Amino acid sequence: QKPVTETTAKAVPVLPDAQTITEVKHYTDSLFSFRVTRPASLRFRSGEFVMIGLMGDPDPKTGKQRPLLRAYSIASPSWDEEMEFYSIKVQDGPLTSKLQHVKVGNQIILKPKPVGTLVHDALLPGKRLYFFSTGTGFAPFASLLREPQTYEDYDEIIMTHTCREVDELTYGRDLIEGLKTDELLNEVIGEGFWKKIKYYPTTTREESPKMGRITTLIENGELFSDLDIPAIDPATDRAMVCGSLAFNLDIKELMEKAGLKEGANSEPGEFVIEKAFVG
Ligand code: A2P
Repeated sequence: QKPVTETTAKAVPVLPDAQTITEVKHYTDSLFSFRVTRPASLRFRSGEFVMIGLMGDPDPKTGKQRPLLRAYSIASPSWDEEMEFYSIKVQDGPLTSKLQHVKVGNQIILKPKPVGTLVHDALLPGKRLYFFSTGTGFAPFASLLREPQTYEDYDEIIMTHTCREVDELTYGRDLIEGLKTDELLNEVIGEGFWKKIKYYPTTTREESPKMGRITTLIENGELFSDLDIPAIDPATDRAMVCGSLAFNLDIKELMEKAGLKEGANSEPGEFVIEKAFVG
C-alpha cells in the first residue's frame, strides 16, 4: 500500500457572495472592464445595477474586515452567462484603487440584488430610442445594446457617448463593432439588426471627428442634422440617460423642454435617468 500524504489545507477565507474574475481588459490609465462568473440564481433586467466590491482593509482597532461595496451598472445583457462591468480607476479611490488590480481567478463580492431605472419597463412604447451617455455612463447601454428587446421594441437606436479624450471612447466603439458579428443577436433579431443603431461619439478635450458636449449638439441641432433625423418628439422618441449628475440634470432639462416626461418602474414615461455611479 502506498503511503498516504495528508495535507492539512488551511481554510481559505471565503468572501460573502464571492464571484470569480474571468477576464480583465484595460483601456486607458483610468478605464478598465472585467467579467465575472454569474450567480446561478441571479436574474436581472438589462440596464440594471448591482453592488460589487472587495473586502476592505482590517479595522486598525478591531482587526475586523468589512466589505467595501459600490453600485455598478451591469454592462452585460440579461442573457449572458457571465457578468461584465466597466469601471473608472481612481488612484486614491477606496474601491477602484484596489479593484483595478484584479486578475483572472481572483474573487470579488457581488450582491445579487439588481435594481435600476434604465430598463425597458420604465419607458412607454416609442419608435426611436436615445441612449445618452458620458464616460463610464456607457455601461448600462453596453447591456441594453446587447438586449434583443431593444431592437424588437424600437425602429432606431441613437447611441451618444461623450468623453473628454478619444481613447475613452474605445470600450463603447469596440462594443458596437462587436454587435455586427454577435451570433445570438443576428439570429434572434435578424442579420443586419445593428444597422438600426446610429452611433454618435463626441469628445470635448481632444481633437476627434465630432467635438462638443452632446447637450450643445442637441441645442444647436447638429445631432439631428448630422444623423439626418427629426428633432426630439414625445410622440415617437424615448430616452435613457446615464452620466455625471450635472450631465443628467442638463439632459433632463432638454428632454422636458422637448416635451418628454420622466418615467420610473412604477410609472413608465418618456425618458429615464441614472447617475453613473463610480467616479
Ligand atoms: P467637458 O470636457 O466639456 O467637461 P466628466 O469626466 O467630467 O464626467 O466628463 C465626461 C464628459 O462629459 C466630458 O466630455 C464632459 O465635457 C462631458 N460633460 C460633463 N458635464 C456635462 C454636462 N453638464 N453636460 C454635457 N456634457 C457634460
